Amino acid sequence: MGWLDGYVALVTGGASGIGRAVVKRFIAEGCTGVGVMVRSAEQAQGLQDEFGDKVLTLMGDVRSPADNQAAVEATVARFGKLDTLVGNAGVWDFFAKLEKMPIEKVAESFDEIFGVNVKGYVLAAHAAAPNLRASGGSMIFTLSNSAFYAGGGGPLYVASKHAGVGLIKQLAYEFAPEVRVNGVAPGGTVTPLRGPVSLGKQGKSLSAIPGFEENVANVTPLRFIAQPEDHAGHYVLLASKENSCATTAAIIQSDGGWEIRPLR
Ligand SMILES: NC(=O)c1ccc[n+]([C@@H]2O[C@H](COP(=O)([O-])OP(=O)(O)OC[C@H]3O[C@@H](n4cnc5c(N)ncnc54)[C@H](O)[C@@H]3O)[C@@H](O)[C@H]2O)c1
Repeated sequence: MGWLDGYVALVTGGASGIGRAVVKRFIAEGCTGVGVMVRSAEQAQGLQDEFGDKVLTLMGDVRSPADNQAAVEATVARFGKLDTLVGNAGVWDFFAKLEKMPIEKVAESFDEIFGVNVKGYVLAAHAAAPNLRASGGSMIFTLSNSAFYAGGGGPLYVASKHAGVGLIKQLAYEFAPEVRVNGVAPGGTVTPLRGPVSLGKQGKSLSAIPGFEENVANVTPLRFIAQPEDHAGHYVLLASKENSCATTAAIIQSDGGWEIRPLR
């Protein structure tokens, strides 16, 4: 018996990194099916090869209202209902400093980063809400240590993740009592997290930064760098009605203890 026996979920950005670890764990915990919004045929194939007919891959851009709606509709058409939305697709800004960018670049990269990290969550929530109200389900959004603290990115990324805190609280308020809305806030994790096209960083990957793993481990009180699967259990807990029915508007910090970093 798994914690999510018979559940149906939809995960955005679930072809890699933290999202993929969530898809894997949800299936291991008994989900009958998981819809996964992906960006490319290659990502879709990788998921199908690993999870077969337990996954339904849906090509889309989280910034598109129509793509979000289509992903929800296709997941419900295939698996019969929706219990859990995991909003997770994101881009990072590679510590881009405000004053180092020309002002037009600031405007462009703001639109891209907030488009994916904030608008993407808002649109997914809107698209999934009617089905989640019907099932008494929940939403879970991937935030970050950058949702609470400075230093994990530049101002655009950090502001976009702080915005996620407000979104979770307000959606929890708006969707109660039928739908619980929560978040998971990972810290530095070994994933291929990319940068924005507007900053020319779409081909760069967070964990390819030289020294990334040691640097994160060195500044983390628990002294290690997380792997994507280290966060997945929090999503299972928050998705499970049996195990977290009294929890809404909560954000589980899964960051190795940023709160208790020693002052330098
Ligand atoms: N890796 C870390 O250190 C870290 C730390 C804290 C928070 N996070 C957050 O975790 C989440 C997942 O990132 P990850 O680290 O697993 O990296 P990742 O790159 O493996 O996952 C992000 C996914 O989002 C998808 N995506 C990006 N733009 C999209 C768009 N416009 N439409 C649809 N899909 C899109 C990508 O294809 C990718 O599969 C993000 O929200 C990120 O901000 C990551």
